[in-house]
Amino acid sequence: MGWDKQRLEQVARTRLGGARLIVVANREPYIHCYRNGEVEWIRPAGGLTTALDPVMQACGGVWVAHGSGDADLEVCDTNGRVGVPPDDPNYVLRRVWLTRDEEEGYYYGTANSMLWPLCHQVFCRPTFDPTHWEVYRKVNEQFAQAVLEEAAGGPALVFVQDYHFALLPRMLKAARPDLVVAQFWHIPWPNPEKLLVCPWAKELLEGMLGNDLLAFHTQYHCNMFLDTVDRTLECRIDRERFAVVCGGQDTTVRPYPISVDPELAKEYLGDNWEVRAAAIRKKHRLGKRPVIVGVDRVDYTKGIPERLRAVDRLLQKHPELKGQFHFIQIGAPSRTHIPAYRDLTDEVQELAEKINWEHGTDSWQPVVFLNEHYGPEDIFVLYRMAAACVVSSLHDGMNLVAKEFVTTRDDERGVLVLSKFTGAASELVDSVLVNPFDVDEMAEGLLLSLTMSVGEQERRMRRMRAQVEDCNIYRWAGMLLSEVGKRVPEPEPPVEVTNQESATTQSDLILEETQQGLERLIARENYLTAMRLAAAGM
Ligand code: G6P
Repeated sequence: MGWDKQRLEQVARTRLGGARLIVVANREPYIHCYRNGEVEWIRPAGGLTTALDPVMQACGGVWVAHGSGDADLEVCDTNGRVGVPPDDPNYVLRRVWLTRDEEEGYYYGTANSMLWPLCHQVFCRPTFDPTHWEVYRKVNEQFAQAVLEEAAGGPALVFVQDYHFALLPRMLKAARPDLVVAQFWHIPWPNPEKLLVCPWAKELLEGMLGNDLLAFHTQYHCNMFLDTVDRTLECRIDRERFAVVCGGQDTTVRPYPISVDPELAKEYLGDNWEVRAAAIRKKHRLGKRPVIVGVDRVDYTKGIPERLRAVDRLLQKHPELKGQFHFIQIGAPSRTHIPAYRDLTDEVQELAEKINWEHGTDSWQPVVFLNEHYGPEDIFVLYRMAAACVVSSLHDGMNLVAKEFVTTRDDERGVLVLSKFTGAASELVDSVLVNPFDVDEMAEGLLLSLTMSVGEQERRMRRMRAQVEDCNIYRWAGMLLSEVGKRVPEPEPPVEVTNQESATTQSDLILEETQQGLERLIARENYLTAMRLAAAGM
């Protein structure tokens, strides 16, 4: 029996019993922002939120996240709660508000200038700043407070996401030992030599060992984590069970490769994707030429300059390809407050211009660099119309762009050129696997993607689609919930019924309240906008 939304719903019901599901992730699944004076919402770029939103829609519960949109506060109730998805709410988003200094120290500082480069093999030196670390600790405490409020008065399973919250699990357990706490680390875990340069390695590990279950994408990352613990802490490592017993807490460490919801492709493509594809071709003067696409946040782990250099190399080695294809790179702006990210944007922009200058003509530009945020409706059309998709990360925990691309190809065509250094490479073995540091190998990979026979494309795509169909996001969440659900205490049968009822009623009530609050706020905002326009005589 395959995994789908219904099966996950069932697992959540049986495994969670009366316990409430609370997900904690820095990034919120929906961001409210002002556009032309109106409140709108967007979905952020990045695999984590794309993967977890369908899980929350299936299981219900509360998602605790940083409220980062300029209209986020407007649409929430006084406790920072709002029902989502905004157009058809079925779970609760609880927003945590951070000051600029907190964002600086916790998000831009410790999370993205220390832990992000520390965990990826990308030769970018991490920054170790004691002030940032102090703020990171405080913000973890702030999130712990929000989780404890959401979990008040009953059993709960807290599912923590990623490197923004290494300290949170231990804090939660200290306050509420009865909570079941699991964490998924979405990025790689480095070898002990690398990790142990971090001045706060011990505190980091102790924080993570507050979890009942700690999950990574691959067995290799689990092994590296256990080796790091082994060299750092006084504790017992049980290599038979893949568990650590530290200070009375037993933490199971297991691999669960994350995935996507294959059904979303149909939804986002709709029945007029070809019309939208034609509009894209017209707008960027693509004619009928084959298109190779790249879709990423502009991040130095993604190997965007490397793939542009490969396009350059390909055109140098095969001048007969001039005028024969386009490379479109969607580069969603990301973490632009950090200099390394700003420099990268400039580098990509300059490289694209250089390649177009050297190889292009007035009527043909090989590279189209779109440095903007695009929603899945546009991105999925690009995947579907492309001859190939390139994912050339220098190092990546999984990479869900690779999997998303495959889900859109119900025509069984299209080639995936994929970096060997992504988690996805061990599942999508029918892609064209490349080393992104090797410009010749990358150029060869691109050439193969443009010349592969239809039969070969179909054979490879069929197998990759089957893999993503089987190992989808519902399976990922279902397996995790089943494992961690063993720790959720079984309530007495009569109590269970009452708990379940009250839990449902309570979360339904919150949803209802927040929805009403949202409508009131939007009405008020429309009224205020109208007043402002009237005052301005417009
Ligand atoms: C990676 C991280 C996620 C993060 C995403 C987008 O996938 O593992 O935690 O949400 O990048 O980055 P951002 O900083 O915009 O949330």
